[in-house]
Amino acid sequence: MIGVYDSGVGGLSVLRSLTELMPDRPYIYVADSGHGPYGERESAHVIERAERVTDWLVGRGIEALVVACNTATAVAVEQLRAAHPALPIIGVEPALKPAVGLSHTRRIGVMATRATLASSKFQRLLESLRDQAHFEIRACDGLAMAIERCADLDPSGQAQSELLAELRACAMTHLQALGPLGDKGVDVVVLGCTHYPLIRPLLQELAGPTVQLLDTGPAIARQTHKRLGESADAADPKGTQGTRDIELVSTGQAACLEAAARRWVGGPLRSTTLDLP
Ligand code: DGL
Repeated sequence: MIGVYDSGVGGLSVLRSLTELMPDRPYIYVADSGHGPYGERESAHVIERAERVTDWLVGRGIEALVVACNTATAVAVEQLRAAHPALPIIGVEPALKPAVGLSHTRRIGVMATRATLASSKFQRLLESLRDQAHFEIRACDGLAMAIERCADLDPSGQAQSELLAELRACAMTHLQALGPLGDKGVDVVVLGCTHYPLIRPLLQELAGPTVQLLDTGPAIARQTHKRLGESADAADPKGTQGTRDIELVSTGQAACLEAAARRWVGGPLRSTTLDLP
């Protein structure tokens, strides 16, 4: 069983890639939404929550842990690895390196949470690439929260239009802050928070067709597959063969997580609420 963990629904973007590549594995997904979002919280809070959730998942017998949260990876992955040396722990980090290879203008936008951007892990990554491209960095305050609020909405539902309008305005503000976009400006935008790929169609519409949006879901799935030592034959890139077994656990609203997972991951799902103070 693979454990997947995020502060909320964002890690579903990674779970989707994992289930596409390894559909036959059982998964247990924890959304720590009763204690998130993490992006604008103190490091101590994020570390404490990451340790709490990981201990619980280890108790459930996971064979590997995917920290499907850039913020928790940036702030807490070293502590988690030190506490569980025998457990394969796969973290996520903003895709700056692949972006350098893809950008023609050498101007790259990075959207992430304030905590990810402030972390020494991210600062080291940025420093190592500074001479290869210009990076426009944006702390997207409120964006993960706005996505979280819209997670269980039917996008076509009229009554939801206010929340969706707020989400759109928030996404627009952050994209505009990256400066001119497209073939004379920022031509690659790194989605450095796992929540953001969930609104990829909206971001693409706002950024325009000449901007490439980059996330790490598929790369993390490949890396997890490799760490588990599975043969290439075991993978099913189209996700057509497997009988999925996905357990969803939320420290907040389980119904909301389940609705979001139906929309973004699909397949048979079971959800429960977990009291994990
Ligand atoms: N999905 C998370 C990330 O990748 C965290 C968002 C948040 O909790 O603020 O950074």
